[in-house]
Amino acid sequence: MADNGERSVVLITGGYRNLGFWISRELKKAGYYVVATYRTDRERAEATAIDLHIPIYKADVTIREDVLSLFERIEANDSIVGAVVNNASTFPTGPLQTLSLDDFEDTFRTSVFASNMIINRALPGMNELGGGKIINIGMAGLTEGRAYTRVAAHAAAKTALMVLTRSWAKELRNENIMVNMVSPGMIDYGREDEEWRARMRRAAPSGKLTSPLEVASAVRYLLETGDVSGKVIEVDPTFNISSL
Ligand SMILES: NC(=O)c1ccc[n+]([C@@H]2O[C@H](COP(=O)([O-])OP(=O)(O)OC[C@H]3O[C@@H](n4cnc5c(N)ncnc54)[C@H](OP(=O)(O)O)[C@@H]3O)[C@@H](O)[C@H]2O)c1
Repeated sequence: MADNGERSVVLITGGYRNLGFWISRELKKAGYYVVATYRTDRERAEATAIDLHIPIYKADVTIREDVLSLFERIEANDSIVGAVVNNASTFPTGPLQTLSLDDFEDTFRTSVFASNMIINRALPGMNELGGGKIINIGMAGLTEGRAYTRVAAHAAAKTALMVLTRSWAKELRNENIMVNMVSPGMIDYGREDEEWRARMRRAAPSGKLTSPLEVASAVRYLLETGDVSGKVIEVDPTFNISSL
């Protein structure tokens, strides 16, 4: 709670479906004031808003005006963004030679440009609150700096986001603002298509699929832990939240 009585909220981009939904649900259950965003699927966003009892605003995070108006709407509601989960991302696949320039640009704009813009916009409020938490969602295996055949653009963008995560952590080390990355393996949303599951398992760094609840639990852990910053937490089937 800020001195002026405003509520500190956790902003989760894309927090209405798939992993974003799991994070929103986990944090809401833990008692956080959650605010989520959607871009395309209004019906599903409205269903999640009702299901979780959270506000969900429309915003394309790559558009400056959308991000500015998102924060204005949150602040007009007597709330301050005290924590950010940069979850929104696109996932273009295919060899670099055939990937469209638009898809290439979009993945960098969403994972890198937008996350950086949201962090910058959130800082004054976090300073007002006396501190804050920023969690960027990455992907498992980034720290190896390996080559990829089908997801190189996405992995390159997430690697850039990892460098930004550590750099922001360093820049904000005296401001009580912790910046970390949670990097999941291939997430298991319970899809019952065995061919798809086998393909995903082959592509997964660990050979197994990852529980979205474990990923959400890692995000919650980082929100609840005071002095961890600049870290990349990999969440794959070998990960157990209790080992942190
Ligand atoms: N799924 C996996 O196996 C996996 C593995 C490792 C890491 N991750 C990471 O986990 C995060 C969530 O993945 P997911 O599986 O939930 O992916 P997803 O189902 O494709 O969801 C992506 C989310 O990002 C939002 N988004 C994309 N572009 C946007 C934009 N320009 N403005 C605002 N929102 C935008 C989407 O909103 P709309 O649908 O409304 O456009 C959607 O909510 C991503 O960062 C992803 O890279 C996922």
